[in-house]
Amino acid sequence: MTALPVIPSLRGLLLTGARRTRHAVPKIITSVPALAAFLILAAATFLVISLGPFQRSPTSSSSSLFSGSGAACDLTRGQWVRDPAARPYYTNATCAFIEGYQNCMKHGRPSLEFLRWRWRSEGAGCGDGVPGRRFDAGRFLRLVRGKSILFVGDSLASSHVRSLVCTLSQVDGSPERSSSGGFERWRFPAHGFTVAFFWTPFQVRWRLTRGPPEPVGPDRQGEVFAGPSDLHLDEPDPRWAAAARDHDVVVMSASHWFARPAVYYRGGRVAGCHGCGAAALANATALIKPEQAQRAAFRTVLRALAGMEGFRGTAILRTVAPTHYENGGWFDGGECTATKPADPEDPVEIAEPEGEFYRAQVEEFAAAEEDARRNGVRLRLMDVTKMMLRRPDGHPDRYGHGAGEHEGFDIDCLHWCLPGPIDVWNDLLFQILAGR
Ligand SMILES: *[C@@H]1O[C@H](CO)[C@@H](O)[C@H](O)[C@H]1NC(C)=O
Ligand SMILES: *[C@@H]1O[C@H](CO)[C@@H](O)[C@H](O)[C@H]1NC(C)=O
Repeated sequence: MTALPVIPSLRGLLLTGARRTRHAVPKIITSVPALAAFLILAAATFLVISLGPFQRSPTSSSSSLFSGSGAACDLTRGQWVRDPAARPYYTNATCAFIEGYQNCMKHGRPSLEFLRWRWRSEGAGCGDGVPGRRFDAGRFLRLVRGKSILFVGDSLASSHVRSLVCTLSQVDGSPERSSSGGFERWRFPAHGFTVAFFWTPFQVRWRLTRGPPEPVGPDRQGEVFAGPSDLHLDEPDPRWAAAARDHDVVVMSASHWFARPAVYYRGGRVAGCHGCGAAALANATALIKPEQAQRAAFRTVLRALAGMEGFRGTAILRTVAPTHYENGGWFDGGECTATKPADPEDPVEIAEPEGEFYRAQVEEFAAAEEDARRNGVRLRLMDVTKMMLRRPDGHPDRYGHGAGEHEGFDIDCLHWCLPGPIDVWNDLLFQILAGR
């Protein structure tokens, strides 16, 4: 129970750091260049790659599981189509679990046009019924009766959990929420179904800062945030790994935090670092890029799940959801003012390192499949990258907080509004769970 009060504040750290940087607390001014260079939205460098490589990525086998329609349907291929009659599955008034930084409705987003788009899958074999259909919460609940799903990841994983819980609660009534040991749980008693969430932004064992981990009081948050985390690239975060076998499904995701400064460990010894400053380099520590660290971390957790004694369930890797900052990053006035999805005819580019994160995820997933199969673990890829890349209009932008409030980023083009475009992730989840 001691863990839980800490978790929200840790989760908030990323956000807090952003706010502090923008307001330039003198104490952390020196770390601003480091933040600017190394944090998530180092998209400021605007190194971009074309979408080309996506088309060749080996993802279709993993997401082609829709049963009953002969040819496999790849839900991840398609486009956003406008549907003026579209209604969200839930609103800020009908679901109590939407967090402030996701609550665009409450914070007065001037247009709710971003809710008028549906994802229409166009893969071969998707059939007539699939395009633009509404998520069937009743069917989902029947499918998962008596089961439990554990989500592990950062605040975007938390958003997916809330999207799922809010959507299902419109059918099964508000679930019972509880928390212990860093786990948040929602239980739908009528179906004996449980959704659990554990916040672990790297999946592997980590410590937020090389400094003393406690206390992370408000006056030290900026400093703590700027300091490099210790990441043990070859050890799954034991706190969630120990709980994995108690669940039928584990959905993992982790991307943006890897862009932060870190010191990396293998076998308990320092193996390298990123954004760690001259001191560590003087100790002959190798530079390791965030995408290399992320690749190693996913390799570790995928192998752990594939070979885990007693786990015979489904492990799902959700790929990176791109950010959409324009005219700067989160720290220097970047914004996301698009009012509609990217035109299907437009080429879309993904910023680095997100493109590298995506490739690492897809490749490590493919490399772990064989092991998983041998051990009776279903390993599946939930590829959201292409569809989310085309939704620059779905972020909170300036409406992730009220006027004068300082929750979250000032301008947030990383998280997504709830309700919002990520609600379609539940369709992908349903398809994976319904597959054989
Ligand atoms: C929901 O959002 C509306 C504005 O769209 C606001 O007036 C209302 O107070 C909000 N309700 C809750 C419960 O947040
Ligand atoms: C560098 O090595 C020295 C001596 O081994 C150690 O005290 C110091 O903490 C190291 N610095 C970093 C940043 O790891």
